[in-house]
Amino acid sequence: MTGKNFTPFPVLRTGRLTLKQLRNTDDKEIFALRSNDTVNKYLGRKPSRSIDDAKNFIRTINENIQRNDSIYWAITLTDTDKLIGTICLFNFSDDHSKAEIGYELLPQFQGKGIMQEATSKVILFGFQHVGLHSIEAYTHSENQRSTRLLEKLNFKRDSAADENFTIYKLTHNG
Ligand SMILES: CC(C)(COP(=O)(O)OP(=O)(O)OC[C@H]1O[C@@H](n2cnc3c(N)ncnc32)[C@H](O)[C@@H]1OP(=O)(O)O)[C@@H](O)C(=O)NCCC(=O)NCCS
Repeated sequence: MTGKNFTPFPVLRTGRLTLKQLRNTDDKEIFALRSNDTVNKYLGRKPSRSIDDAKNFIRTINENIQRNDSIYWAITLTDTDKLIGTICLFNFSDDHSKAEIGYELLPQFQGKGIMQEATSKVILFGFQHVGLHSIEAYTHSENQRSTRLLEKLNFKRDSAADENFTIYKLTHNG
């Protein structure tokens, strides 16, 4: 599969992880992530209030994938098959040369190098299979864990999005 076409769903594997499509049965884990104050701290989103919110979210995400609007993976530990976080490419430019990356991990799985493993694979997918020229990340200026991750991945500070959020950018072969 090449280009901005996400059917069949691109399952990605790394040393410890399998990145796969969200299932309806992931509703409890999606609720846990999207209602967690630590995870939400710098994301500027409304917390999930119920399992129904999570179910609706999963439905919307999978509709977006079907339309090739965006691509969103459940991060699972291959050994346990449980969702521990998510990662996505979204906000594609009209010519598909640019997209945004987003990611989140349940607190008990942070600090183990898991997101570095997942983001490295998704970035490669974006450059090699989708044909992106650059990937951007909007991160809260006080979100040190996210900023440290982006710097390890070689993203460079691009500009300020507003008084709170900074845009980091990674250019293919740049
Ligand atoms: C941002 C976020 C994903 C970063 O997660 P993370 O687990 O800290 O990220 P990494 O995968 O880079 O892991 C880094 C840590 O794992 C440690 N580590 C342990 N084992 C490791 C291994 N095998 N390989 C690499 N690093 C390892 C590293 O030393 C590093 O620790 P340090 O930060 O104290 O130096 C996480 O904090 C999060 O989900 N935050 C909430 C959501 C959010 O803010 N998302 C950002 C949206 S822009």
